[in-house]
Amino acid sequence: MGYPHPSHARETVLLSQYFGDAGAKSYDGWVKRGGYEGLKKAVGMTPDAIIEEMKASGLRGRGGAGFPTGLKWSFMPKNDGKPHYLCCNADESEPGTFKDREIMRWTPHALIEGCAVGAYAIGAETCYIYIRGEFTEPWKVMERAAADAYAAGALGANVFGSGKRIDVVLHRGAGAYICGEETALMNSLEGKRGNPRIKPPFPAAAGLFGMPTTINNVETLAAAPHILIKGAAWYKALCKGNPKSTGTKLISVCGHVQRPGNYEITMGTPMKDLIFDMCGGMRPGRTLKAVIPGGSSVPIMTPGEVDSCIMDYEGVVAAGSMLGSGGMIVMDDSTDLVYQIMRLARFYAHESCAQCTQCREGTAWTTRILERILSGAGKSSDLDLLLDLADNMTGKTICVLSDSCAAPVVSGIQKFRGDFEAYLSGKRKPSLAGV
Ligand SMILES: Cc1cc2nc3c(=O)[nH]c(=O)nc-3n(C[C@H](O)[C@H](O)[C@H](O)COP(=O)(O)O)c2cc1C
Ligand code: SF4
Repeated sequence: MGYPHPSHARETVLLSQYFGDAGAKSYDGWVKRGGYEGLKKAVGMTPDAIIEEMKASGLRGRGGAGFPTGLKWSFMPKNDGKPHYLCCNADESEPGTFKDREIMRWTPHALIEGCAVGAYAIGAETCYIYIRGEFTEPWKVMERAAADAYAAGALGANVFGSGKRIDVVLHRGAGAYICGEETALMNSLEGKRGNPRIKPPFPAAAGLFGMPTTINNVETLAAAPHILIKGAAWYKALCKGNPKSTGTKLISVCGHVQRPGNYEITMGTPMKDLIFDMCGGMRPGRTLKAVIPGGSSVPIMTPGEVDSCIMDYEGVVAAGSMLGSGGMIVMDDSTDLVYQIMRLARFYAHESCAQCTQCREGTAWTTRILERILSGAGKSSDLDLLLDLADNMTGKTICVLSDSCAAPVVSGIQKFRGDFEAYLSGKRKPSLAGV
């Protein structure tokens, strides 16, 4: 894997400050850069005080749903006498998202420190970090960092002499997208098939091994020590006027921009500034056609929507999509959107755990209908059929993988209907062999 780009002057580098700095990977290197001060401060505070600080900072989960982190931590029961668990979600399989991988590759101790802070705050002595199976380099870096953190007393039975125990256990996934869904992740950690569980019970009541559990994304946990060191008010001020979306967000930009990569922006940055300034805009001679802004599971945006979009949780919703995981797929006018939507549907069909009929059948049928359209054998009724299928796939299943497949299909038909009609009318030549 390569080196990241030098940061752009318009980025706010907090979590990505040491991306590309090999010296930050070691325990000593991390301490020299101010590392582990957040954890040292945390173990001198009460768990409730840490949770209040998180609430005041406005930090929201960076794994996709944007749930307020302090509030989630406060759901964990107090003095219940049971073991509590923290699960760090490092599965990062969402198409277009590659930020957690970089946090682990370059700043593994930032994640370990964040996990230890989170575990202490929710009354857990053990944090499992569930790492995507394909992440071979991040796995090795994390293994080394965890061993060094134990050797230095940052983890183990007596964290920095505080008398508090915090263990971090690394667990390698086996390559399933669905294991990033929090309840499937817990099943997988328990050695079971990675099928999502029906909620309730919610993880804070009965999670991993039936015990109270909190699941957080890598980027969320890595932000926690910064909040303790610099203060909730400082973090909350990192926004452009919307107090509901605060801090920085790592945005993974891929596709047809001149400078793809991870960009750390202050919440509230205009999307057009990110694409056309920081990422260098489109390739020469090309124009923007579409953006999927939050990983592949969110509605597709038109250039007009991009133009007015403010990049924070509320801003992207107002512009017709969702911020999600912050994995941004940028497509120029050379893109066959029908083909791209079919590729996404095929991905979801492949990754469906198949428990729910709407998802198992819906993702497979969506893929086949799109393949039929691309092969030139589409029927005029196919678009209505796809929309009807999507309706049956939305809001009716155990987890939202089904909805995630429907979102690009519905938005694609609504916003780029001409691309589909070109195949249906025969104006565009088939791009797939007959199915
Ligand atoms: C199909 C599916 C896949 C998911 N994959 C991930 C993932 O790879 N990483 C992640 O952090 N969250 C993923 N999530 C979201 C998690 O279920 C959960 O909301 C998140 O880890 C909570 O952490 P946060 O509050 O810090 O965002 C996924 C959700 C679904 C439905
Ligand atoms: S929606 Fe799909 S992936 Fe989620 S539980 Fe149901 S079948 Fe499995």
